[in-house]
Amino acid sequence: MAGSGILLLPAIDSSYSMAQKSKIKKIGVLTSGGDGPGMNAAVRGVVRSALSYGLKVEGIMRGYQGLIDNDLVDMGPRSVSGIIGRGGTILKTARSPEFRSEKGQKKAVATLKRHKIDALVVIGGDGSYLGASELYHKWGVPTIGLPGTIDNDLHGTDQTIGCNTAINTALDAIDKIRDTAHSMERIFIVEVMGNRSGYIAMEVALGSGAEDVVVPEFKPDYKAMCDRMIKGAKRGKVSWIIVVSEGVVKANALADTITNMTGLETRSVVLGHVQRGGNPCGMDRVLSTRFGVAAVEELLKGNYGKAIGVIQDQINIIPLAEARKRSFDKFKEYYRLISMLR
Ligand code: F6P
Repeated sequence: MAGSGILLLPAIDSSYSMAQKSKIKKIGVLTSGGDGPGMNAAVRGVVRSALSYGLKVEGIMRGYQGLIDNDLVDMGPRSVSGIIGRGGTILKTARSPEFRSEKGQKKAVATLKRHKIDALVVIGGDGSYLGASELYHKWGVPTIGLPGTIDNDLHGTDQTIGCNTAINTALDAIDKIRDTAHSMERIFIVEVMGNRSGYIAMEVALGSGAEDVVVPEFKPDYKAMCDRMIKGAKRGKVSWIIVVSEGVVKANALADTITNMTGLETRSVVLGHVQRGGNPCGMDRVLSTRFGVAAVEELLKGNYGKAIGVIQDQINIIPLAEARKRSFDKFKEYYRLISMLR
């Protein structure tokens, strides 16, 4: 941190003029798609900051489906008490096939009009961003997106809500698996979440000291992997952890392949939805809170159809469509390290 001086507390009163000038007087907030730890903290950030700017807030239940079904709740200051550290989402979440249709979107827009909601904060992943982008570009509804997915597969942000907690949850499990893997000299295939994205698998593999990783971004070479195990076994190394992304191969199928190719004893573990639950870690709480407040402030500035993110610890804002592009720049570096350190 630069400088050794002492800072004056920032005055927040002056920013109220921003709210007075804005045409946004009431906002809606929803969580959509797969939940992630930190979504509640983001909802709290949205609700409390909006209220402090003198706005009204409606919570929409079960994502876009709640807009179609007219399932809304008034969000007063106490509605978000005590949720900053709780996993899941108090607004519930869903994937809404109906919202993908023109008819569904029409119903959703009618609900927004009926409740006089001027702008919508959407907390979700790729599919939810598509919905938010369509609401803005096709229907003229001011929207803004917050990256709510454990997969960390959105562009324009270093982190998505819940990813860090999910990684820690998976690491905690793998540390335990490692104990039994060592003791019984077995190979373990550990399947983690991330259907189309290997981000969780890469982080978890490097962070757990796993011997190998299988992700959608790299073509797997099971023959080479098995050859390494056979060579390792000759040197006395018979316990391996291999982390796989769920979208590439099922853990039990890979375990069978490895046993057939190596003759070594292999077990599989699917971590599954455990990774989506639990109290958000400190980083997710802080990040989600910052995102929630930034969403409200950007809407008040008239910044619509955008996605909020964080790059090098600074809030970053890009168009929703751009945020849907994926980037996995660091995977090659991670793979190199995993290979070097096994
Ligand atoms: O939210 C993202 C995610 O957790 C993916 O990692 C996973 O593939 C998917 O959701 C699982 O979805 P569902 O809970 O609907 O089975």
